[in-house]
Amino acid sequence: KQTRKKLVAGNWKMNGSFDSNEALILGFLPEVDDLVDVSVFCPFPYLAQVAKLLQEQGVAHGAQDVSSKASGAYTGEVSVDMLKEFEVTQVLVGHSERRQYHAETSVAVAEKAVAALAAGITPIVCVGETLAEREAGQVEAVIASQLDPVVEHCAKFVENGAWNLVIAYEPVWAIGTGVTASPDQAQEVHAMIRNRLQAMLGTEVAQSTRILYGGSVKPGNASEIFSKVDIDGGLIGGAALSSDDFSGIIRAAR
Ligand code: G3P
Repeated sequence: KQTRKKLVAGNWKMNGSFDSNEALILGFLPEVDDLVDVSVFCPFPYLAQVAKLLQEQGVAHGAQDVSSKASGAYTGEVSVDMLKEFEVTQVLVGHSERRQYHAETSVAVAEKAVAALAAGITPIVCVGETLAEREAGQVEAVIASQLDPVVEHCAKFVENGAWNLVIAYEPVWAIGTGVTASPDQAQEVHAMIRNRLQAMLGTEVAQSTRILYGGSVKPGNASEIFSKVDIDGGLIGGAALSSDDFSGIIRAAR
């Protein structure tokens, strides 16, 4: 646990404007230091602006999705090489909103993770069950079905030392609802994810891979969630749009 530095990642989703992005970033930057990793994921059109604002500020930035394809006739898609032109070092893949509204399968998500890793970009792979799945006792099966294709496709990067992947557990029922998983509920799933990584990829990978929790994290609940042994930070939605709230969550990760 001591070797895993906490990561607080803000997913802006489809929010922002030139003005509000700048105010938001300038608002939370004073809270950033070496003790916690911080990153923000903005809509594609703002990558250039965000890259400029965050230059040499010790905050990573990234996109909320990426294509698994290198180039070609894929209208509306954005490639890893395009992201790299904006100094992107991390990218979200498989967010539940992409799975839900854009029918992304776990194999498609795995292919995106592969494209990112091959380009030296850290994929933050999102997994999580719906309320119906939780109530039906299917949490482990659902997480495994989302995680296993990613692990299988990306295992080759362990062998060549380029495994640099973050997992975000975001229970769908906790996203934007104000209902957060209890710290114990979250810890239980995080431990399960780490055990799976261990079984499939070995102890070293399992112990060094960061697993973030996402779903209604706020300054008031963040410390307790982050205190759990297998929770290595958070993927923050709504509260990442307020510099005060985001600053509070960064503080809680220290
Ligand atoms: O990716 C972050 C996210 O889905 C959580 O959103 O608004 O519940 O913090 P929120």
